[in-house]
Amino acid sequence: MTRGNYDLKRHTELLGKVAIEIETLADLDATINKLCEGVDPKAAEAVFVEDLCPYFGVVWPAARAVSEHLARMGTWLAGKTVLELGCGLALPSLVAAKLGAKVIATDFHPDVPKFLSRNLNHNLLTAANVEYRAYDWRKESTLGTFDFVVGSDILYEASHPKDVARSLAAHCARGSHIILGDPGRVYLQRCLDAICALGFQSDIFIKEVSDSHSDRAGDRKTKEVFVISLQKKT
Ligand SMILES: C[S@@+](CC[C@H](N)C(=O)[O-])C[C@H]1O[C@@H](n2cnc3c(N)ncnc32)[C@H](O)[C@@H]1O
Repeated sequence: MTRGNYDLKRHTELLGKVAIEIETLADLDATINKLCEGVDPKAAEAVFVEDLCPYFGVVWPAARAVSEHLARMGTWLAGKTVLELGCGLALPSLVAAKLGAKVIATDFHPDVPKFLSRNLNHNLLTAANVEYRAYDWRKESTLGTFDFVVGSDILYEASHPKDVARSLAAHCARGSHIILGDPGRVYLQRCLDAICALGFQSDIFIKEVSDSHSDRAGDRKTKEVFVISLQKKT
């Protein structure tokens, strides 16, 4: 399997009043097909391929929803600390940094930092605004506590709710907020139950955002996404 030689494209995302230039994979499905060429799906390598699948490389609708939620906070975010889990292209991190927050973006895919570095450049930001840390939410280590811990579309496998809930909560102190964006996947409720059991209270919003994956004739061009804001009470 070869990795890293991706076809790319670039566009502008407008989140509230914040404009972000973002470089993405030109075509996620084509990239995945290319990576999987010649891999026997039953072989041990298939597990490896699944971990290295470049799901990081497009802006998922949930990222837009979380980013818009952050953008609405405006410069109130200035000086706040933000951690993003499973950041992919890190749109929420870029928006928070544009508004003056001090951000750490994390993911476990080895190609994410290259994309982050290019997207920081495109937006006249630096690693002083958004620091990157390789972080796997399956591991029990933590990176400290933060004012905001955010994640978008990070609940798509059966193991995710438990690991993601534990990891989100482990990075919160009393008063910290978790902001989670999800397109309504089956694992969302399980994750919310696990976080609330750890002493958080939730507010749920539904946001309609554009969905660039629905670009076949006749598809809706928008998607409703859940944005859940949870605050640690105890
Ligand atoms: C569907 S993508 C969402 C990317 C981005 N948050 C967005 O909404 O555009 C899921 C992301 O979670 C990351 N991821 C999956 N499993 C992970 C793990 N165990 N630890 C850290 N990141 C993980 C993937 O590499 C990918 O970037």
